[in-house]
Amino acid sequence: MEITGKISEVREQVKEWRRQGLSVGLVPTMGYLHEGHKSLITRAVAENDRVVVSVFVNPMQFGPTEDLESYPRDMDRDAALCEEAGASLIFHPEPSEMYHEDFSSFVDMNTLTGGLCGKTRPIHFRGVCTVVSKLFNIVVPDRAYFGQKDAQQLAVIRHMVSDLNFGIEIVGCPIIREEDGLAKSSRNTYLNEEERKAALILNKALTEGRKLVESGEKDADAVRRVITDKINTEPLAKIDYVEVVDWNTLETVEKIDGPILAAIAVYIGKTRLIDNFIVE
Ligand code: PAF
Repeated sequence: MEITGKISEVREQVKEWRRQGLSVGLVPTMGYLHEGHKSLITRAVAENDRVVVSVFVNPMQFGPTEDLESYPRDMDRDAALCEEAGASLIFHPEPSEMYHEDFSSFVDMNTLTGGLCGKTRPIHFRGVCTVVSKLFNIVVPDRAYFGQKDAQQLAVIRHMVSDLNFGIEIVGCPIIREEDGLAKSSRNTYLNEEERKAALILNKALTEGRKLVESGEKDADAVRRVITDKINTEPLAKIDYVEVVDWNTLETVEKIDGPILAAIAVYIGKTRLIDNFIVE
C-alpha cells in the first residue's frame, strides 16, 4: 500500500490501474479511522480491484466555532487500518494541495441541505460537496463508499452525483455500533467516562422510535415525541434536533406512509453526536 499527498501521484497511479483494466473504489474519510470506516474499506475491497482511501480533515466543512483544530488525527494508526483492510493507496493531502491560495469555486445545493444538520451547520454541506467533487475528479472512481451514519450527507452526495453527472456509483453502508449500541464515530473520543455512558441515550431513544414505527404508528409527531422524551431523561444530553423526514426529499413528514429517516443530533456535554434509523 502506498501513501501520497500529491494529486498528480494519485492521478498517475489510477491511470496505470485503468491501463491494466482494473476497477477503482474510493472511500473518502477525515481519518482517525474506526470499525465503521473499516467496514466501508472492506466492502470497497470486495467490490473493486483497487481501493483509494482519502484521509483529509477538510477545513471547508467546519464552521468558525467548530472542532477543526481539535479533530483527532493519527496517520500511523490510519495507515495500519487501511493496510489491514486491503486498501491500495492512501491519499493524504495537505490543505494547500487541495485549496490553492486563490481557490474560489464551490459546489453547493439548494435542496436537501437546509434542514437537519444544515440548520445549525449552514456552510457544512457546501464544504462536503466541494471536497467530495474534488476527490471524485482526482480519483475518478467507479464506486464511492459512504456510511449511513451521516445519512443527510449520503442523500446529498447521491443527489449531487445525479445532478452533476459524475457517473460514479454511490454505495451507502450500514451504521457500525459499539457493543453497547453507540454508533462508531471519531468524535466519540471527545467523551469522558460519564459522557460515554450518557451517550447511550441516542441509540436507546432511536430504538424506541423505531419500535413505534415498526408497530405501525403513522403519526410522525408521536415518533418524534417518544425519541425526544427518552433523550430528555438523560441530564447530560441537550437536543440539537429530533426529526422524522422523507428519506428521498429530507422534508419533514407528518404522516408516515413511505420511506422515512428518523435522525437526531444531540450534545453530550460539548460533543455533538448524530445517529439515525431508516425505515424503507
Ligand atoms: O464523512 C466524512 O468523513 C466527510 O464529510 C467526507 C465525506 C470525507 C468529506 O470530507
